[in-house]
Order: sequence, then C-alpha cells, then structure tokens
Amino acid sequence: MKILVATDKPFAGIAIKQIKEVVEKAGHEFALLEKYKTPQELHQAVKDADALIVRSDIVDAAVIAAAPKLKIVVRAGAGYDNIELAPCTDSNIVAMNTPGQNSNAVAELAFGMMLYMARGGFDGKTGSELRGKTLGIHAFGNVGKYVAFIANGLGMEVFAFDPFVDSKIIKQAGVTPVDSVEELYSKCRYVSLHIPANDKTKKSIGANLLSLMPADAVLVNTARKEVINEDELIELMEKRADFTYISDIAPDNAQKFTEKFPGRFFFTPKKMGAQTEEANINSGVAAASQIVDYFATGNETFRVNKKK
Ligand SMILES: NC(=O)c1ccc[n+]([C@@H]2O[C@H](COP(=O)([O-])OP(=O)(O)OC[C@H]3O[C@@H](n4cnc5c(N)ncnc54)[C@H](O)[C@@H]3O)[C@@H](O)[C@H]2O)c1
Repeated sequence: MKILVATDKPFAGIAIKQIKEVVEKAGHEFALLEKYKTPQELHQAVKDADALIVRSDIVDAAVIAAAPKLKIVVRAGAGYDNIELAPCTDSNIVAMNTPGQNSNAVAELAFGMMLYMARGGFDGKTGSELRGKTLGIHAFGNVGKYVAFIANGLGMEVFAFDPFVDSKIIKQAGVTPVDSVEELYSKCRYVSLHIPANDKTKKSIGANLLSLMPADAVLVNTARKEVINEDELIELMEKRADFTYISDIAPDNAQKFTEKFPGRFFFTPKKMGAQTEEANINSGVAAASQIVDYFATGNETFRVNKKK
C-alpha cells in the first residue's frame, strides 16, 4: 500500500524519519509531499495513494474525489475539523485522528503565552504571577488534563467545566468541577479554552460568557479561532481595558486586535500548539501505526467518521 504524508506545514525531520520506518517496516511504500502551494498539487499526489496522513491540511470532497484508491485518512493531531467526514464516509474511507499525542505540547504553549503576557511581554516593567490566580479549564479532554497538571504545579486555583466528563475524573486531577459554563467564566480570571470546533461550539465564546469574567480577565485560546465570536470579543475589549486575549493562531481580525489592544493581545504567527519535535513524533508515528494496524487487522479504534 502507498502511504502518503501530505503536509503544508512539514513535520520535524526526525518525525518523518520515524514515520517512514514504521511504514517501510510493515512492507508499505512511503511517499512525501511537503509545503505544497496549491490544492492541485495535493490532488495530484493523492491520485494513487492508499492512505493519507495530514496535519492541518484541508481534506475536502475535492481531495477525496482525486483519490480513487484512498482507504484511510489520518489527521496527525487531535482536532479533525479540517477533514470533511461525509465525503469520506460516502467513499468508504476511514477517517481517524490521533488523540492525546500532542496534548502536553499544547498545554505548555498555553502557559508559555500566559507567563509572557503576565510579565508584560518581558518589557522590564512589573508584571504579575500565575500562582494563586483562578484558572478555568473549558473542556477537560486530553489537553485540559495537561493544563490542569501544570496549573496545579504553578499553584493556581483550578476549576473545570466539561459536561461529557465525570466530575470524579476532574476531582481526581486536583481540579474543582463546576456545574455550568457560566459559573466557570464568573469564577475565573484566566480561562483556557479546549473545546473542539464543531457546529455546536463555533462562535460560542462571546459576550454572554466573557462579560462574566472578573477583573483583569485573560482568555487563552489554544483550541480554534472559530470557537470565538470575534466581533463580540472586540466590543467587550473596547469596553473593558482590563481584558486580555491570547490566541494560538491569528484571529480573522488580527489586525484590528493588534491596532486596538496593544499589550492586551497576543497571537502566534502560525499555529504553534503542536509544533514540538516530541508532538510531531508522537502524532506522526501514531498516525502511521494506526494505518499499518488498520491494513493488517482492520482496527478502527480511532475512527471519527460514520460507516456507510
Ligand atoms: N493549538 C493546537 O495546535 C492544537 C493542538 C491540539 C488540539 N487543539 C484543539 O484543542 C481541542 C481539544 O483538544 P484535546 O486533545 O483536548 O481534545 P479531546 O477530544 O481530548 O477533548 C475535547 C473535550 O471537549 C469536551 N467538549 C466537547 N464539546 C464541549 C462543549 N460544548 N462544552 C464543554 N466541553 C466540550 C469533550 O467532552 C472532551 O473532553 C481540539 O479539538 C483542537 O481543536 C489545538
């Protein structure tokens, strides 16, 4: 089988080496497309691919249509909102993600950005510490759990809201579960977002929640820009000079945020959450191993799309 790694934003070299080893050890063919400039380049590359590994690359109906031999596509990462699931199902293609493989990297970035902003971007003036501050973890999945672990180490007072996770699991992590999302935002000076982007969550973080946050509020978004109602956030930050927004990836209105809120807004130029060697290796090797295993045994454990 031909297993294609197609990434606009390449994996670290060491991750590619290990992915190739997994693929070839199992007797499959390895192919690589990196830094492609147009969707057509991807369409051309998937023509004879049996399996596809991507990162944030868009896998839409056009990609699926261009790949008549494709049997499985794996998003090396957690969020799979870049893969159109219905066309995969229609073409009998299994779509998977690799949950948990980059979670620590994302959690570390969240704190790196929080510390940077709490110290005024290291501008030499007096900043503030995270110790003793309230932190609300919005969604207690793989990333949320690592965020809790680090926050506890920093001595923060940690709360979490996740309607799909048993409160016992949240308590076992040394975190106080809250009963409603409103309670989370009302209690916490820092809120760290870890909800997936889907039809229910897109634009769901707006004035209704953010206006509840206490003085000197900081919203940290390492989830997806799509979950934010940016117009409402801008309006709120215009009214509240004490509100800071930190985002892993430029918001749609990055220029407006930058001009209007100097010192209260920070974003990474490219999505950086999973950009560590360790996360590249973990998620890339997991993706390759899942494909090899699927071809050998039919294991669909990490399938995210429906069967036809
Ligand atoms: N910045 C990055 O590079 C980067 C890397 C990995 C993940 N992410 C993003 O972070 C998100 C979370 O990653 P993860 O690995 O923790 O995923 P995960 O699937 O392990 O956890 C998601 C959690 O969200 C909860 N959830 C779903 N809908 C919710 C809702 N409406 N309200 C509250 N909780 C809800 C689920 O119960 C689950 O516990 C991903 O979906 C992805 O979009 C970003």
